[in-house]
Amino acid sequence: MKTVVEVEALRDGLQRWRSAGERIALVATMGNLHQGHLRLVAEARKRADRVVVTIFVNPMQFSAGEDLSVYPRTLGEDQQKLQAAGADLLFMPQIETIYPRGVAATTQVLVAESLSEQLCGLDRPGHFVGVATVVSKLFNLVQPQVALFGQKDYQQLLVIRRFCEDLNFPVQIVGVTTEREADGLAMSSRNGYLTAEQRVTAPMLYRQLHRLAKHLLEGYEPKQVCQQCEQRLNEAGFSVDYVEVRRASDLSADLSGTPPREWVVLVAAQLGAARLIDNILLADVVV
Ligand code: PAF
Repeated sequence: MKTVVEVEALRDGLQRWRSAGERIALVATMGNLHQGHLRLVAEARKRADRVVVTIFVNPMQFSAGEDLSVYPRTLGEDQQKLQAAGADLLFMPQIETIYPRGVAATTQVLVAESLSEQLCGLDRPGHFVGVATVVSKLFNLVQPQVALFGQKDYQQLLVIRRFCEDLNFPVQIVGVTTEREADGLAMSSRNGYLTAEQRVTAPMLYRQLHRLAKHLLEGYEPKQVCQQCEQRLNEAGFSVDYVEVRRASDLSADLSGTPPREWVVLVAAQLGAARLIDNILLADVVV
């Protein structure tokens, strides 16, 4: 696996593959790679001849006071993991390469507010503008035929799908099932912020989501079960930002006329220094 930092070197590598008619997949990451990222690489390998991975901790998607300065950076280990996973090219640009005019002076991609300015978009103002802007830049730089994103960041996945449709990016967006620890906790770089005690509490998030999802399939009222779930999590030491049931296709809060199997339950909660998010598609729940 080759590692490149400059755009010219990236383009040189890609050009050779493209002239040979090879199909290119992109896995965009912020590094500190775990099994969830490696699963994206494995899925990418099934769908393309060449897999490009990017590592870039994108300042535009962090609000003031968030964890940008302490976000874990583990480059050497990441490179080894990607090599072993069979990635072909790692692009890890400098901030100045992605934002030559500075972050604030860069053109931004604002995805339909009905989708991006709710849930995590409310708690993290500007977050999805930052995500959509950097991902669209990476799409233009790499020009992949297919790009893979984890379903753990479900709203992010829909935001990326939406801007690709709205702005006619010719990229197929594939969502990949959330990778979980043995106790159900969704894998995330931010799990590393948990203390040993909080790590024991953290899997409760998924257990409660699962319980809520089953109740919805049994016909309970979404509002009632969300409130109960939120209360249990707060009592256990979480500080819940939201527990919401939405239409899985577009995150609309209007569930009328749609069967529960077309819903998604989403949760975001702070536990100590970690903001954890998770979700369950009711279509995937076995009763
Ligand atoms: O999910 C992430 O790691 C980031 O939001 C992404 C998609 C790499 C954009 O910076």
